[in-house]
Amino acid sequence: MAYPMHRGALIGCGFIANQKHLPALAKLENRIQLVAFCDLVEERAQKAAKEYGTPDAAVYTDYREMLRRSDLDVVYILTPNRTHCELTIAALESGKDVLCEKPMALNSVEAERMCEAARASGRQLTIGYQNRYRLDSRYLKKVVENGELGEVYLAKAHAVRRRGIPTWGVFLNEAEQGGGALIDIGTHALDMTLWIMNNYKPKRVSGSVYKKLGKGDTAGNAFGPWDNEHITVEDSAFGYITMENGATVFLEASWALNTTDTREQKVTLCGTRAGADMNDGVCINSVCSGELAETRPLLRQTGVPGEDLAKNEADFEAEMWLDALDTGKPTLVRPEQAMVVTQILEAIYESARTGKEVEL
Ligand SMILES: NC(=O)c1ccc[n+]([C@@H]2O[C@H](COP(=O)([O-])OP(=O)(O)OC[C@H]3O[C@@H](n4cnc5c(N)ncnc54)[C@H](O)[C@@H]3O)[C@@H](O)[C@H]2O)c1
Repeated sequence: MAYPMHRGALIGCGFIANQKHLPALAKLENRIQLVAFCDLVEERAQKAAKEYGTPDAAVYTDYREMLRRSDLDVVYILTPNRTHCELTIAALESGKDVLCEKPMALNSVEAERMCEAARASGRQLTIGYQNRYRLDSRYLKKVVENGELGEVYLAKAHAVRRRGIPTWGVFLNEAEQGGGALIDIGTHALDMTLWIMNNYKPKRVSGSVYKKLGKGDTAGNAFGPWDNEHITVEDSAFGYITMENGATVFLEASWALNTTDTREQKVTLCGTRAGADMNDGVCINSVCSGELAETRPLLRQTGVPGEDLAKNEADFEAEMWLDALDTGKPTLVRPEQAMVVTQILEAIYESARTGKEVEL
């Protein structure tokens, strides 16, 4: 199939650019050329341009200067959370489609402004929730859609590490990121859960937030010792969300917790007909001919026909985003959905601060 060629630009050439987006975009060289790279640290933009850009790719340290170019059509915003709202709105207003990394924004006011800017500009906006593109997530979504779990009235969104405090970038800085484990990894688990349930109507939220292990012993951390003198964000947070239809969503998000039950970016669903877990693939639990039964679908054999199973979620995210731009149809992650995730996270922080339940 002949695709139109996109001209893409990156703002932020750090970890997520190099780990997720650039390798995935490199596989789509028949669909997108990367022609502009911006980072406050010029060498990072230069390195990315050299490795992944067109021979004439330009390097910037000021995103405003880059956005003035009229020959770019899609911008990837891969910078710390504090900048997402400002950069996204500027890119949309300059006429570009935008993929912004997760979390969408620091708070719901910013998220709403981003949605409004997308509507007003007529450009597309998506958020980098790549876990939705996983084969197991998409399979579970189908199971729920087909009614095979019945009414899903309890969901658990898991994002728990035993010791996995990030040590690069500005993840430990409240002003830059707006929070710690909750806004960083809890956001993924909550996004997946709401999407699989197809339930975007939260009613009440209560939460607790802890700064317990962040100031402690750094032994055993997956990313090496963190700077525990300067950490200003929570290491754990838990949310209890009641949806309008009465369903309960329990969210657990932790970078450091004294538990061996570590499940990250996993969902547990309990419905009236059956339940589903995401441990070691997908497990559907039900009753079958009078016996409790557990079914483990062989996802690699039942994947969507024609799908290339060598692709990972980053590849699917990159490709489906370009499909959306080419067809004009919304992509899998819609900004209005990410805004609900943002509202709930904000309510968990507020509830923890005030000690009260938050009505949405
Ligand atoms: N989807 C995921 O699973 C995932 C994983 C990690 C990080 N992220 C998200 O990606 C974003 C970046 O995280 P990271 O780990 O890449 O951090 P990072 O610190 O490695 O990279 C961020 C880069 O942005 C640059 N930058 C900051 N402000 C800028 C500005 N105004 N203009 C141009 N460049 C600017 C920094 O110099 C840095 O190089 C965060 O929002 C984070 O939540 C997502």
